[in-house]
Amino acid sequence: MKVTVVGAGAVGATCADNIARKELATELVLLDIKEGLAEGKAQDMMQTATLLGFDTKITGSTNDYSKTASSDVVVITSGIPRKPGMTREELIGTNAGIVKTVAENILKHSPNAIIIVISNPMDTMTYLALQSTGLAKNKIIGMGGTLDSSRFKFQLSQHLGCSPADLNAVVVGGHGDTTMIPLIRLATWNSAPVSNFLDAAQQEKIVKDTMVGGATLTSLIGTSAWYAPGAAGAALVEAIVRDEKKLFTCCVALDGEYGQKDICLGVPVIIGKNGWEKILDFKLNETELAAFSKSADAVRSMNDVLKTL
Ligand code: 2OP
Repeated sequence: MKVTVVGAGAVGATCADNIARKELATELVLLDIKEGLAEGKAQDMMQTATLLGFDTKITGSTNDYSKTASSDVVVITSGIPRKPGMTREELIGTNAGIVKTVAENILKHSPNAIIIVISNPMDTMTYLALQSTGLAKNKIIGMGGTLDSSRFKFQLSQHLGCSPADLNAVVVGGHGDTTMIPLIRLATWNSAPVSNFLDAAQQEKIVKDTMVGGATLTSLIGTSAWYAPGAAGAALVEAIVRDEKKLFTCCVALDGEYGQKDICLGVPVIIGKNGWEKILDFKLNETELAAFSKSADAVRSMNDVLKTL
């Protein structure tokens, strides 16, 4: 298996580090536009190989896409991260051009790759990657809901005093502070609804804190988070290369599912060797469907901005 991570910033490098530690690829290429950055980080990671005991060969490249040729999976993390006080949506002007160029270059050298999009605003960047590559829709996967669901389980675990691993909880909709929808009604602690253990005020706080999970970290750190975003990207790579058929929330092209068309938005999907293989219908209630439709409206107007750039 050959995997490429485009963007050797904090998210890209963390994603690559997780891919290597888990030996998800025999060959791993890290590419960045900044001279020497990817080569340096690749070498630094390779120098952990004997310490951590992995056998993945990591190489770095300064913008030479021929090095990425015949990748099975490509993770796109390129673009600028948000600063405190910024929304993900404010990044569109800069990141759209970057992501479009990256996706087109990837396609030239790896026409059969499955692409995972992490760059923000993630829902619109996933839509853009789909439009600009013309790849089959199952091969374009936006990572947002995977990260947001993990943050949701973290918040729940703090209130329940339990292991996040014992929780099942998903966030659907957009990957934005106001567009994501943590589905608390469907969240369970080892099959028992979390509402058995949490009152309405606690549930409301968990939902709110999950929605601003990224913004909270941005104001604490001074830039966008990277450990969980990088790990979420690697978890998707793992599900693809090991054909796990695992359920994640990912941003994928909808064609009538959840009442939406011509949009990429977060829904529960099965991830395996073909990319996203199936969308699951979680039978949202009226309130949740209304929130999903509102989220779709916001993402759609962000997608419309692409036409003006
Ligand atoms: C986040 O939520 C990077 O969008 C990412 O931290």
